[in-house]
Amino acid sequence: MLAARFDEYGSADVLQVREVPTPTADPGRVLIDVSHAGVNFAEVMFRRGQFPVGVPHVPGLEAAGTVRALGEGVTGLRVGQPVAALTLDGGGNAEVVSARAELVVPLDGDLAGLDPVLAAAALCNVTTAYGILDGAARLRAGETVAIYAAAGGVGTAAAQLARSMGASLVLGAVGSPDKVDFAMRYGYDAVTTYADLPEVVGDNTDGGVDLLLDSVGGAAREAVTPMLAPFGRHVIFGDAAAADATYQSNDVWFSNTSRVGYNLGGLAGSRPAVLRAHLEEGLRAVAEGVVKLDVTELPLAEVRVAHQHLESRASTGKFVLRIR
Ligand SMILES: NC(=O)c1ccc[n+]([C@@H]2O[C@H](COP(=O)([O-])OP(=O)(O)OC[C@H]3O[C@@H](n4cnc5c(N)ncnc54)[C@H](OP(=O)(O)O)[C@@H]3O)[C@@H](O)[C@H]2O)c1
Repeated sequence: MLAARFDEYGSADVLQVREVPTPTADPGRVLIDVSHAGVNFAEVMFRRGQFPVGVPHVPGLEAAGTVRALGEGVTGLRVGQPVAALTLDGGGNAEVVSARAELVVPLDGDLAGLDPVLAAAALCNVTTAYGILDGAARLRAGETVAIYAAAGGVGTAAAQLARSMGASLVLGAVGSPDKVDFAMRYGYDAVTTYADLPEVVGDNTDGGVDLLLDSVGGAAREAVTPMLAPFGRHVIFGDAAAADATYQSNDVWFSNTSRVGYNLGGLAGSRPAVLRAHLEEGLRAVAEGVVKLDVTELPLAEVRVAHQHLESRASTGKFVLRIR
């Protein structure tokens, strides 16, 4: 089968689209003929060895398509059924992927009519946005939210979901003023640069936001605590800057704030049923039009282009690869 693969860590140039062995339907797993696969910032991190995934590696944390075969013990799915799957071990940027049955969602029934392109775009990003707001940070109606990487895949989904869950104010921060107009289409009250966000928070809240969604790290992470209201939650779910911050545990005591995290891979290991619930809620939000996604479709052969755009901070919205 045809797949994107890297045999060493490095720049987007290490990605090759080539013939590789087709996976088999192992027990508890579902083999999927992939039509579309989203591209995530996490795949950039894996490719550059920030979180070593082992090589050779076929990237791809999500895929939509149809069931090709069922492994032993899998029930409730049938060959030929349209599905969407989180493929958190990778492998989605390929004509065929093997997915854990617990993380395969039928695209008929309740989700009939959900376009596989949108499903592929939603799997990681909208699941994460929902899981952060509902599971990790426990957003309540009336609370205020600020979101880093506001124009990105998770950011645009989180703004719309926060709004639908009753947030009274949703602010965004972006790396370049060029992204402001784009982000403003996705439910924000105001979008500004990271440098200006503290002032915008000060002008629009009673002493800080209740939630700040931080996938960026570095200097942007260091700036979070003073922007939080008493009992505000700093949600940490990424490190795009590849620069974590160090804290004293007493900081939360003195600042009346908390730090919470969200990680798809961790939940898949420890609480797959919880992750599945977040996944289904995220897909439903897209199917019902609560969350709108801006998708740029590319052929598999152009997987490097998607990585380059994500890595250089030039991207907005979501890239989806057309596999077949
Ligand atoms: N914990 C989880 O399970 C989980 C799941 C999904 C995603 N994530 C994380 O959530 C974030 C968003 O994911 P996504 O796939 O939707 O990506 P994305 O937001 O579409 O793209 C990443 C964005 O990060 C921002 N960024 C800030 N500093 C950066 C830097 N030094 N280099 C590159 N980008 C930088 C850029 O936006 P600006 O230029 O506007 O700052 C860039 O567009 C990522 O950090 C990802 O790792 C975590």
